This record gives sequence, structure tokens and C-alpha cells, in this order.
Amino acid sequence: MRSFVYTAHPARVLFGAGTLAELPAEVNRLGRTRAFVLTTPELAEPAARATSLLGPLAAGVFDGVAMHTPVEVTESALGSLRELDADCLVSIGGGSATGLGKALAARTGLPQIAVPTTYAGSEVTPVLGETAAGAKTTRSSPDLVPRTVVYDVELTVGLPVALSVTSGINAMAHAVEALYAPQANPIIDGYALQSIRWLAAALPRIVARSDDLDARADALAGAWLAGTCLGSVGMGLHHKLCHVLGGSFDLPHAETHTVVLPHAMAFNATAARDAMHRIADALGTPDAPTGMYDLIAQLGGPTSLAELGLAEAELGRAAELATATPYPNPRPVTADGVLALLADAWQGNRPTPCGPQPRPDIRPLTDQVVASFAKAPDPRVGRLLGDLVRHLHEFVADNDVTEAEWLFAIDFLTRTGQLCGPSRQEFILLSDTLGVSSVVDVLTNSRSPDTTPSAVLGPFYVDGPPVVPHGSDIARGLPGTPLWADIRVTDPDWRPVDGAVVDVWQSNDDGFYDVQLPDLDGPVLRARLHTDADGALRFWSILPSEYPIPSDGPVGQMLRATGRHPYRAPHLHFMIMATGYRRLVTQLFVAGGAYLDSDAVFGVKDDLIVPFERATGPTPDGREIDGDWCRVEFTFHIAPE
Ligand code: BEZ
Ligand code: FE
Repeated sequence: MRSFVYTAHPARVLFGAGTLAELPAEVNRLGRTRAFVLTTPELAEPAARATSLLGPLAAGVFDGVAMHTPVEVTESALGSLRELDADCLVSIGGGSATGLGKALAARTGLPQIAVPTTYAGSEVTPVLGETAAGAKTTRSSPDLVPRTVVYDVELTVGLPVALSVTSGINAMAHAVEALYAPQANPIIDGYALQSIRWLAAALPRIVARSDDLDARADALAGAWLAGTCLGSVGMGLHHKLCHVLGGSFDLPHAETHTVVLPHAMAFNATAARDAMHRIADALGTPDAPTGMYDLIAQLGGPTSLAELGLAEAELGRAAELATATPYPNPRPVTADGVLALLADAWQGNRPTPCGPQPRPDIRPLTDQVVASFAKAPDPRVGRLLGDLVRHLHEFVADNDVTEAEWLFAIDFLTRTGQLCGPSRQEFILLSDTLGVSSVVDVLTNSRSPDTTPSAVLGPFYVDGPPVVPHGSDIARGLPGTPLWADIRVTDPDWRPVDGAVVDVWQSNDDGFYDVQLPDLDGPVLRARLHTDADGALRFWSILPSEYPIPSDGPVGQMLRATGRHPYRAPHLHFMIMATGYRRLVTQLFVAGGAYLDSDAVFGVKDDLIVPFERATGPTPDGREIDGDWCRVEFTFHIAPE
């Protein structure tokens, strides 16, 4: 079980094509009347559209958004905001536009609506990074999260392909590092993996056709989820490196993420194996770091720090800066380790695969063993053994069964066999609790709809029980609620079967069969009766109760290891034999009894659950009973041979 803390940053999200048109309604929804639109000159067209849609709700436009959110730009925007007497912020653009919105919100407390046009994801994070006099500071507060995000897929169609790729890989980096963050939790894991799946599938389609609206929608949704990951859990080495390379060496943000990501993943691969397997699955590749590298290369993205303009001589200083202060990362971060990583990233080498080595091909071996049965004199034997071997080999290979696990299995089966003897059959119990007995039973015996279904025999049947006349009490005075059983045996057309031999057996009120109680005097709660000319028989017993199957051996160990209980639902066993008919082995289950839906041996069938009705007053045969008794009536239909 995982215990975790999950922090959500609620925002209202509108997602679709053409959602920009909803801006006025969203401003109204916030109860505001004077929106200040923040953008860049490149986005003049959508910004103008937004202002015209807003009409009187637009207080003015600031199109001086700049990278890294410099405080001078924020101060200048703040001046305009005050002059215009704006009462809310609408940022249209990438991370820089959202950043300015957050910086102004931090200074004024005004609510923000973000309209992202890239895959930056910052619209759903509480983080603001600002630069003053060349130095970058960051702060985080739930108050900085935009109140509303309007994702308009149409606005992303114009995002140049190269920028779509690097911005998309930048988003994937958030999702990747979220999966091995110290605060990782199943909710964010789900977002992260879906984000990777969507982006990995969408980016190649965008490269093929940049106006593919469905691909654009998947990429934008993936970026939203990745941003949610970034806003909820901490990031590791990858983000630290990109921060250093951007901040101290002026490398471009999204491109740096794109180059570094596969190498940071390779660095962490052995320390975050589970995360890497899940990422590989989401990417649809056998190995996560090489899969990511190949995706980037296929998308035409940058793959080397050299092509981003970093001098090789700077690598040592970058490694020092990245390791100067400690931070959480799956694999301990050392200057040497990071230098090697950076050297690979500088050259643009494909990382070495870290995932499971390609599996040796076992098929020739399997075929050889199967072929060895080909000459079995009984072809059925050859077929059964061949198929068993195929399934066994596949099971071992598919699960990468280790030597220790295999030896454990051998020991388990050895102990199972050692427990078997005249009074205990642990192998049958194993077959029962694995459901195999019920499968064999269903396939062999219950194929006709007009005959009574069969049920497992169980280990407590004893051949040749005492023959008793109708009306006998097979409980022989043992404690329990008296039970009157009124049974009929017919063929599928309801014609009575005369002279059928009917063996019945059940456990006592404490859940034990007589054979489990060596001190007991003779057979009890088991008997043989014969049907009369009406196919009928009647006897007294006691109401069966639920009971645990023997759990002091390997089967009990298996049940405990899997959190299963050992109980059987309350039932009465029957074996019915008549000349000219197929033998029927079955059970009647007490309707409303415990464990009907979780019987330890999977033996319950709906048609066998019957009412064991409570009764008071005179009994059918005049027997004197103090207090309650109960009755069960049932007609068994047996199949002609
Ligand atoms: C029984 O009902 O007697 C039984 C059946 C399968 C396993 C153990 C007990
Ligand atoms: Fe039983």
C-alpha cells in the first residue's frame, strides 16, 4: 500500500477548439469588468481577437511580455494596469505571458485567466520565476495559480513545428521527473503517464501535419497534465541541469530540456527502474531513455548541447554548479557522474539501453521438449504434456521467474505432496483453491441446462456410508438447528427415479467433518438413503454452517500470502447414483449464508443456492422439537447415461 499526500491546485479549465470565444463569459464569471490583456507582438492577431470579443470588458492590452519575467517589464505593465484601472488579467501566450500574469497577480491580487498557446504548462502551477539585475528568483503560492485556463486548440496550430517539438518534450520532462519524485503519488502518476502517452503519440503527427487538430488537442491536453505534475511534486536532476544551463550559460529553455532529458533519464535509470518501465510502456518502447532519445531524433529535435552553442570547455563548470547544493534525485548526484552525463549530452550520443536486455529466445527449446512427446503411444498424452510444457515455459519466460522463485515453487509442491495421505489430500485442496477442480467439474458435468449442476467432491467424502431408513436423524443428536430435508430425484423430464442411491454428508455445527474428529464414535452426519417409487427421500440433519478448509499446510500459506480467507459457504453434499443415469456429485448452499460470493474453493453455483426455511410448530413427521427447526426441499434432475 502506498501512503501519500496529494496537493491539487484547482482551476476552472475550458478545453476545445474556438474556446477563446468564451473569454467574455469567463470574465463575467469572475465578476470582473476590466480585463488587462498580456501578450507578445507575435500574438497580436489572437490578442486583437480577444479584445474585440471582450468589447467593453477589455481595459487594454500590454504586448511587451519578455522571457524570464524581468521585474522592469512587470513594473512597466503594472503602471499601465493602474492607469487603466484593470480588475483582472488575461494572459495569451506561452510561459512568459503566463509568468507576467502571475507577477502582476502577486503584486495586485487580481484574478488571472490564462490562454496558453504553447506546451509550457505553467498555467496550472503555483510557481513564478522572475529576474532582477540578471538574477533569477522563484516563489510559489497557491494564490499565483490562474483561476481559469482557456485551452483553445486552434491557437496552438500556429505554433511552429520545431517549437512544438521542444515545448512538447519540455512538458514530457515534467511528467518523467514526476514519476520518480519523492512526493510521487498514484494520482500524479496517472497524469504523468497519460501525458507521456498523449505527447509521444501527438508530436510525430504534428511534425507530419502541423494543422492536425486532433494531434494538437492531444499535445495540449498532455501539456496540461504535465504542468499539473510540475505544479504538484518536486523535480530532480533534469530540471536542475536545465536551470543551470539556461541561467548561467544562456542556453534556450525548451531546446535544452529536449537535449538533456534522455541523458538525465539514463543517469537515473537504474535507481528508478519501476518509473522507467512505466515510461517505456507509455512511450511504447522497450527502454525509456533510448526510446525518448529516438523519439526526439525522429522529431528532428536538437540532440546535442554542442548544437545549442555550449562550449565543451564549460561542461566542468556546469557540472559543478549543478552539484553545488543537494536536492532529491533517485540516483545520488556527483560532479563526476553529472560531468559524464553532460559530456554525452554535449556530443549527442544515444544513451545506452538500461531496460531489460532482450530476452533469450526460448522457442527452440520449447519446441524440442514438445517434440519429445510426439511418439507417445497415446496421442492424448502427447498433446496434454506438450501443451502443458508450452504453458509452463511461457509462464516462466513472461514472468521472468527467478531461480529462487522456482526453487520456492518446487519446495511448495514438495510440502504439498508430503502432507498427502489416507486422511489428507493437500493436492486436491490446492486444485480446489486454485479453481481448477471447479473448471474440470464445470466442463465435465454441467453441460446440460435441464439437469442439476454439479459441484466439487471435496476431500471429506467416505465411500460406503451407513445405510439409513427415511426419516432418520443423520446428526444422531449432535447440537445444531434441526433440519428436515425433503428430496426428490427425477430425470430431466421430472419422471421420478426409483431406487437411486443417495449419499449425503456435511460438517457439524463447529465446521468439522467426522473424519476430522478421530475421537468421535463412528460415522456421523453422513448416510446413504434410497429413493422410493416417487423418487423421494427424507431425513433429519442439522443446518450446515460455514467452515474453514484446512489451512495449516501449504494451501493455507498460499491463502494467507494472497489475503484470502479459508471459508466455505454453508452447504450440504450429495452424491446420487442410479442405474442408467450419470452419477451426480453436488452440493446445496444455504441461501443468505456467509461467503456465498467468496467461497474458498469457488464451488458455489446460483442454481444450487436454495432456501433453508425457518419453521416452528409441528414437524412433518411428528418429531417433537423444542424451538426452531428448518426445512429444505429440492428436486435433483439427473442425466440418463
Ligand atoms: C468440502 O466442501 O468438503 C470441501 C471442498 C473442497 C475443499 C475442501 C472442502
Ligand atoms: Fe464440505
